[in-house]
Amino acid sequence: MFWTLLTAFVAAGVSSVAASTNQGPTACVSFDINWNLLAFGFNGKDYNVGTQDTWTSSGAPTDITTTGRPPFNSPNARCFLSQFTNAIYVLNADTANPTSIYIYDATAKSWSTQSVTANGFDPTDYDTILDHDTNVFYAYSNATIFSLDMQLMKVANATALPWSDVQSPDLSTDTSGTVTPGANTAGYEPTLALAQNHVHFLGVPGLPVGDAKIFVIHFSFMQPAPQNYGTFPDSHGKAASFFLDSGVQQEFAYVPDDGSATYVINVETNTTKTLTGPPTQDALASYYASTSALVQLDTAGTVAFLAYDPNTTTSGGTWSTISKIPTATAVSSSSASGSTSTGTGSSRSGTSTSTGTAASGSSTAGSNTTSAGMKMGGQSVFGAALAVVLARAALLAL
Ligand SMILES: *[C@@H]1O[C@H](CO)[C@@H](O)[C@H](O)[C@H]1NC(C)=O
Ligand SMILES: *[C@@H]1O[C@H](CO)[C@@H](O)[C@H](O)[C@H]1NC(C)=O
Ligand SMILES: *[C@@H]1O[C@H](CO)[C@@H](O)[C@H](O)[C@H]1NC(C)=O
Ligand SMILES: *[C@@H]1O[C@H](CO)[C@@H](O)[C@H](O)[C@H]1NC(C)=O
Ligand SMILES: *[C@@H]1O[C@H](CO)[C@@H](O)[C@H](O)[C@H]1NC(C)=O
Repeated sequence: MFWTLLTAFVAAGVSSVAASTNQGPTACVSFDINWNLLAFGFNGKDYNVGTQDTWTSSGAPTDITTTGRPPFNSPNARCFLSQFTNAIYVLNADTANPTSIYIYDATAKSWSTQSVTANGFDPTDYDTILDHDTNVFYAYSNATIFSLDMQLMKVANATALPWSDVQSPDLSTDTSGTVTPGANTAGYEPTLALAQNHVHFLGVPGLPVGDAKIFVIHFSFMQPAPQNYGTFPDSHGKAASFFLDSGVQQEFAYVPDDGSATYVINVETNTTKTLTGPPTQDALASYYASTSALVQLDTAGTVAFLAYDPNTTTSGGTWSTISKIPTATAVSSSSASGSTSTGTGSSRSGTSTSTGTAASGSSTAGSNTTSAGMKMGGQSVFGAALAVVLARAALLAL
């Protein structure tokens, strides 16, 4: 994004940041809770592409295009699976309603449109994650952390939902423990990643390699010191969390804008695996993950995936194009120009090996202690239904 903006400045000779920030594919992909790949906005249609074992076999995907769908005419469409409701929340899919969230009920196979009030959230310039346990979006926009509580919605409600200002975060890189709201936020282009109910801020200027700043969702608390997870670059990129069949995500994939590698960060072991970079080196590509695959959708509308087994994959891997999905209509006009370089083949493989080192014991990051001295419970041992109830209760108690 940074380089894209820089290129735009140089090309235009004028500063027009807002016009340049909302970029990326107009289509998006996601999964239902049975890990069928859902492809939305591909040349005016939506598809159920089936489970991973069928993605590269012959046979057409199932056309699931139906009424109430968004027009998918806006750059940077984003799709998020709400695992508790088997619904897909679609952002940035309708230029006429830039803050609206379209909801696809994957059980009923129907659409509805939820109106949302921005309250300072900028739908053209943000990054966001959907928290697994609370079903709350957390976003970074305009140097502010915002939240949007989706409750347990799989059908829109006539009452508009609000983005709420949570805090001006401390993104400083110092380890002294001092909290300074707004520190180091100037110019930060957000790269947000979710695991273990923690929002990870990657690519924060000045962070050491392999470090992230962490926002603890259940306590609405930005940890003052960064946390180390091994080795990955401190640069802007895209992230997607690997789901588990139940329970909160423990790993996320991170692809820096240069597409040079795919990093998988495990927040339980504090380590990073280095896997093959995506087939298209596209800073504007979007990424999605199931339990066992990372999927890239590039700005040319091509979908590819890298199989991933959390228990056995340690490095490398081979990307494969899912050619049974029609190529999505490319993003409108100027927005993608000059920012994309395409790889030479339809698949890319590698064997690079690298694992992270455990964080030092002296780090205070990762602490579950809030400024109020509360301790976080062990969510991972809860049953899924209990976890969402307790997580929501904890959130509401703040
Ligand atoms: C961003 O935040 C500033 C300071 O709070 C505010 O004045 C401005 O209106 C916000 N921008 C948007 C797009 O909401
Ligand atoms: C929308 O949801 C809120 C919160 O669950 C509820 O209080 C309200 O009655 C709902 N409104 C409609 C029109 O369904
Ligand atoms: C990961 O880092 C956190 C914070 O430093 C620490 O509490 C935790 O024990 C570490 N986990 C492992 C497996 O080393
Ligand atoms: C990985 O191992 C865990 C623990 O043994 C197991 O529960 C899980 O099903 C395994 N995951 C896969 C994808 O095989
Ligand atoms: C947070 O607390 C949980 C439960 O007590 C524990 O399993 C986990 O390791 C802690 N995380 C960190 C980062 O300290």
